[in-house]
Amino acid sequence: MKETVIVLDFGGQYNQLIARRVRECNVYCEILPYTADIERIKEIAPKGIIFTGGPNSVYDESSPHYTPEIFGLGIPILGICYGCQLMAHALGGNVVSAADNSVSEYGKTDTEYKNDCVIFENVPDAGVTWMSHRDYINRVPEGFRVTASTAHCPVAAMANDEKKLYGVQFHPEVNHTEYGRQMLRSFLYSVCGCKGEWRMNSFIDETVVQLREQIGDKGVVLGLSGGVDSSVAAALLSRAVGKQLTCVFVDQGLMRKNEGDFVEETFTKLFDMNFVRINCQEEFLSKLKGVSDPEEKRNIIGTEFYNVFWNRIRESFGSGFFAQGTIYPDRIESGKGDAAKIKTHHNQVGVPKDIKFEGVIEPLKDLFKDEVRAVGEQLGLPHELVWRQPFPGPGLGVRVIGEITAERVKTLQEADAILRDEMDKCGYSKELSQFFAVLPGVKTVGVMGDARTYDELVAIRAVTTDDFMTADWAKIPYDILGRLSNRIINEVEHVNRVVYDITSKPPGTVEWE
Ligand code: XMP
Repeated sequence: MKETVIVLDFGGQYNQLIARRVRECNVYCEILPYTADIERIKEIAPKGIIFTGGPNSVYDESSPHYTPEIFGLGIPILGICYGCQLMAHALGGNVVSAADNSVSEYGKTDTEYKNDCVIFENVPDAGVTWMSHRDYINRVPEGFRVTASTAHCPVAAMANDEKKLYGVQFHPEVNHTEYGRQMLRSFLYSVCGCKGEWRMNSFIDETVVQLREQIGDKGVVLGLSGGVDSSVAAALLSRAVGKQLTCVFVDQGLMRKNEGDFVEETFTKLFDMNFVRINCQEEFLSKLKGVSDPEEKRNIIGTEFYNVFWNRIRESFGSGFFAQGTIYPDRIESGKGDAAKIKTHHNQVGVPKDIKFEGVIEPLKDLFKDEVRAVGEQLGLPHELVWRQPFPGPGLGVRVIGEITAERVKTLQEADAILRDEMDKCGYSKELSQFFAVLPGVKTVGVMGDARTYDELVAIRAVTTDDFMTADWAKIPYDILGRLSNRIINEVEHVNRVVYDITSKPPGTVEWE
C-alpha cells in the first residue's frame, strides 16, 4: 500500500493547496470531506492526517466537526487554523469566540517559534506567518504545550509530542508564511515518518505496468481534446500499449488557429497509436445557426460533441476499454455545500448505456494539474501542449458572442493568433494565467483611409489567478496593448476597434459566456 496522508476538509479555502504542498514533499495525499466515515480513514491507514481551516467558529451550530475518536487512532494529526481550534476544543482546551476584534488577525503576522518543537526544528525562532482568524485558543488541552505565539495570539501553535498531535493557528501552506513548507515537511518526515516515495518518474513506470496488466491484448479508445489532461493520458497510454490505443479527436472547427493540425501532427508523429480526426465544423455550425443564447450554445455544442463522438465509437470501437483524462481535482469530494451553477462546464463524457466497454481507465485520476504536467514533460509531449492554458470545452463557441458563423470564427482565430504571437514575442505570456480574444458581436463606426467603416469589435481578455475561482485582470503594459490593437486592426479583416477587458472575477467570469 502506498504511503498516504489524508487532508480532512473542513471547508477551508486552501484545502487543495495543502494537498499539493504535501505532494510537493513527495508524499501521496488525498482530500476527504469532514463527512467521511472514520472507517474509511482506518481502511486507508494514513501515515498522518491534516485538518484544514474552515468557517469561523467551532461554536457555530453549522460548523463542521469530526468524531473525537480520530484523536485516539494513534495517527499523527496536524490541525491548521480552524482545524487547530477544533482539536483544542475537542480535547478540552479553550477556544474564545472573540466578540470584539481585539485578537483577530488577518494577513502577515510576526510569529515566534519554540525550536524544540519538531514542527519548528529546522526554521529560525521567528518569522512571518499568514493568519486569518477571529476566534483564538487561550488555553491548550491537557498534555499540550504552546509552541508559537504572536503579539495578539497567545497560542499560535500547540503540540502534544507523546500523542503526535500538533496544531498551528496560521496557514503554513500559503506562500506568505515564511518556512511554511519546511514546517509541513517536518510534520510529514519527522512526525509521520514518511519516506517520500511519491515521484513522477516512478508513477510513470508503475502506471505503465498496471495499464499493460489491465488492458492485456484488448483495445483502448480515448477521446482526445488537445487539452493538457487528455494529451498526457494519451501519451501515457501510448507508452503502455502503443497501437492498441486509438485516440478520437473531434475537431468541431472551434479550436484556435492551426490547433487541430498541431494536435494531429503531435500525436501522429511523436507517439505510437491510431489517431482518428473527425472534422465536423459544418455539422456544428448548422446546428448553431441562428442561436445566440450562451447556455443554448453550450448545450448544443455539448450534445453535438456527444453524438459525433459516440456514433464514431459505436461504428468502429465499441469494445475493449474506454479511457479518459480525469484528474484528481475533477473528483475531489468537497467539504462545502453545492455551489450555484453559473455556467455549464462539460469535460467528462459519460458512456452511453448501449455501449459496453470492459471498463473505464483513468490513468491520471490521482494527479494534480502540476503533476500531470510533470508527467507530460517526462513523456516527451511538446512544451506548448503541456503548458497549454485552459480552454473551454465549447471552444471559441463561447468567445464568439451572438451567432456563430464560419466567418466570425475565422476573424476571431486571426485576432487570437496575433494576441498569442505578441505575448510570446514580448515574453509576457508567462506572467499571465490565461489570455484570449473575444468577438463581442458589437459593430462600431470607424475611419480607415478616409473612409467610414462599420465593423466588428475585438476584446482582449487577460487574467492572473491561482485557481480560476477568482481572477484579477492583468495589468498589461500600455505599449503592448497598443501594438496588439494596431496589428489586429491592420491585419484582421472586418475588425476596426479593439478594447481591453478590465473586469475581475467576481463580478465577471473569465470567459464572456
Ligand atoms: P469561467 O468563465 O467560469 O472560467 O470564469 C473559469 C475557467 O474555466 C474555463 N472554462 C471551461 N473549461 N469547459 C472547460 O473545461 C467549459 O465548458 C469551460 N468554460 C469555461 C475558462 O476558460 C477558465 O479557465
